[in-house]
Amino acid sequence: MADNQKTYTLTNDETGVSVKLPVRESIQGPPAIDVSALYKEAGVFTYDPGFMSTASCKSKITFIQGEVGILEYRGYPIEQLAANGDFLETAYLLLNGELPNEGQLRDFNQLINRHTMLNETLTHFFDGFHYNAHPMAIMVGVVGSLSAFYHDSLDINDPELRRVAAHRLIAKMPTIAAASYKHNVGEPFMYPRNELSYCANLLHMMFATPCEEYEVDPVAEKALNLLFILHADHEQNASTSTVRLAGSSLANPFACIAAGIASLWGPAHGGANEAVLDMLSEIGDVSQIDKYIAKAKDKDDGFRLMGFGHRVYKKYDPRAGIIREVCHEVLEKLADANNPMFELAQRLEEIALNDEYFIERKLYPNVDFYSGIIYRALGIPNNMFTVMFAIARTVGWVAHWLEMMDDPRQKIGRPRQIYKGYARRDYVPLSDR
Ligand code: ACO
Repeated sequence: MADNQKTYTLTNDETGVSVKLPVRESIQGPPAIDVSALYKEAGVFTYDPGFMSTASCKSKITFIQGEVGILEYRGYPIEQLAANGDFLETAYLLLNGELPNEGQLRDFNQLINRHTMLNETLTHFFDGFHYNAHPMAIMVGVVGSLSAFYHDSLDINDPELRRVAAHRLIAKMPTIAAASYKHNVGEPFMYPRNELSYCANLLHMMFATPCEEYEVDPVAEKALNLLFILHADHEQNASTSTVRLAGSSLANPFACIAAGIASLWGPAHGGANEAVLDMLSEIGDVSQIDKYIAKAKDKDDGFRLMGFGHRVYKKYDPRAGIIREVCHEVLEKLADANNPMFELAQRLEEIALNDEYFIERKLYPNVDFYSGIIYRALGIPNNMFTVMFAIARTVGWVAHWLEMMDDPRQKIGRPRQIYKGYARRDYVPLSDR
């Protein structure tokens, strides 16, 4: 250990034996105590269910300071990217570390466009799903099955081929997502149109039919672009950590992203945007809000206020603030200004934010509280909300996968446990049990 290395000392109170643990500094945010040698030196593990105080990796991609509501991609505040940016520009930034110049952005757009089509055989996979299968279930299956198409040809030890896999994933997600929607509604799949922007192309593949011309509404395209920028990355959340953990065994990246989609689906994570609209429909009317607030506070009732609370943000989620602001504008432009869900959501937020229970626990609206209302106004059904999230978050997932694979110290992720089961005992023959 270097002389000027900051350390923490951990002392066994029974034996008095101490071990010095090095401190790893962050560029911003709290430092971390490096416990990687703890077991070797002191014969103990650390215990931290839910990773409440554990950093699982070093990363240069996204910075969050939840206490003050800061979110930055590669150092750029989310508010600035949301106000000025384009989704593929943000994707380039997250993947490469710098904003692209005009030529780089044009080339990146072309690169992604070249990969938007699916192998025609893959489209037959959809026939295996019942027409009303949840689109997230279809996404887990079909994205995972991409690994069958790109396995032998993908040497993940080759950084160039890893990048191609990342670009394929970003490009094909909207095509698969739109196909899962078309499968639900029983309409023919639409091929991608590469002259359209990323978000316009998704809207085209979802809402166009072969029977007539479809023109993408620029308001819808702009709203989707904004939501996708806000959802593109969020450092070591459950789904990104899932992708990193799956990838740490050097598994096929398409299968790793399918694992990320599975994790995102849960209502405590990305599935919350669908759950928020279900909850608002269930509440139905402002007069019912008090009843539901009481349910959320009752520990014997499993009900939680969906779209409220966050592991990291103990102040307003900056993404929720941005979405709330544009919600008015978007709903007005889409002639949905008197959307009763939005009114209900605003009233619910106001009541919750003035309630002692929510104040004490620092529970604020998160990104999912308002996003579903915009998706609904764009004509996107509830069960597609988390799919939308998955498309945007694929950029974060692949950026983290690439970063992990480039890290010379990357190791297979293998947590330890505190064993609480039986101590050793002898087998009892069936006749004696
Ligand atoms: N409604 C009511 N009470 C809540 C809520 C909520 N939405 N969220 C947390 N609490 C309470 C808990 O009951 C707990 O109370 P206690 O201290 O009296 O036991 C306290 O607040 C802390 O909650 P935890 O569950 O320990 O916090 P954790 O960081 O583990 O969970 C989570 C964060 C999962 C987001 C949680 O707030 C939640 O379930 N929210 C609703 C689901 C949701 O909106 N998820 C989307 C998150 S954003 C995203 O993933 C994109």
